[in-house]
Amino acid sequence: MIKSILISPIKRNLLTKKMFRVAKEMSETKGKKLMVIGDPCSGNYFQFMSSMFPNCEHGDVTVDLYGCDECNRMDINDMSAWEEFDDGEFVVMETGVLGFSKDIGAVLSQIRRVSGGDFLSAGGNRGFLWEMFLYKTYSKELVYSMDPFDSRVDDHYSGILLGRNGSFRLKF
Ligand SMILES: C[S@@+](CC[C@H](N)C(=O)[O-])C[C@H]1O[C@@H](n2cnc3c(N)ncnc32)[C@H](O)[C@@H]1O
Repeated sequence: MIKSILISPIKRNLLTKKMFRVAKEMSETKGKKLMVIGDPCSGNYFQFMSSMFPNCEHGDVTVDLYGCDECNRMDINDMSAWEEFDDGEFVVMETGVLGFSKDIGAVLSQIRRVSGGDFLSAGGNRGFLWEMFLYKTYSKELVYSMDPFDSRVDDHYSGILLGRNGSFRLKF
């Protein structure tokens, strides 16, 4: 219980902050734009947490289907929407959105393409209660909880199917 509603969200918040700093620095050093996937203004299970303790900032482009006015309200599952972005244009920082993927292989291949390989994510929430029940109270569309990923050291992207229905591991 404590892991699902306290420890895991706090860990994810802190790791996202750290990875966002890395992603921002990487985008500056490499002269690439920064894409943030997930509206920093919203989206946490407890909305007040997003407002009081934002885990990152907007990017040059921020992708979120139900995001704020600053966001590109794009569905990550709409493959034609990704076409507006060029190959290798961005460093991509993902924050808790890829769990909504309908075809994770297809979404990941677009991230691989637009990032040219520069991709970071703090992954999703964990804990028995979250993985079994609580995720359904957040969204009926949520399918996965992802593992953290840092393209500087990781070469496989992985996660679990919520409901403890299995796992996946894909070459990035
Ligand atoms: C957990 S929040 C992520 C951002 C939040 N600041 C965080 O780090 O916890 C999940 C976000 O995914 C967005 N979302 C849900 N389905 C989506 C989809 N198919 N395409 C793009 N964004 C989606 C929601 O609007 C929500 O803001």
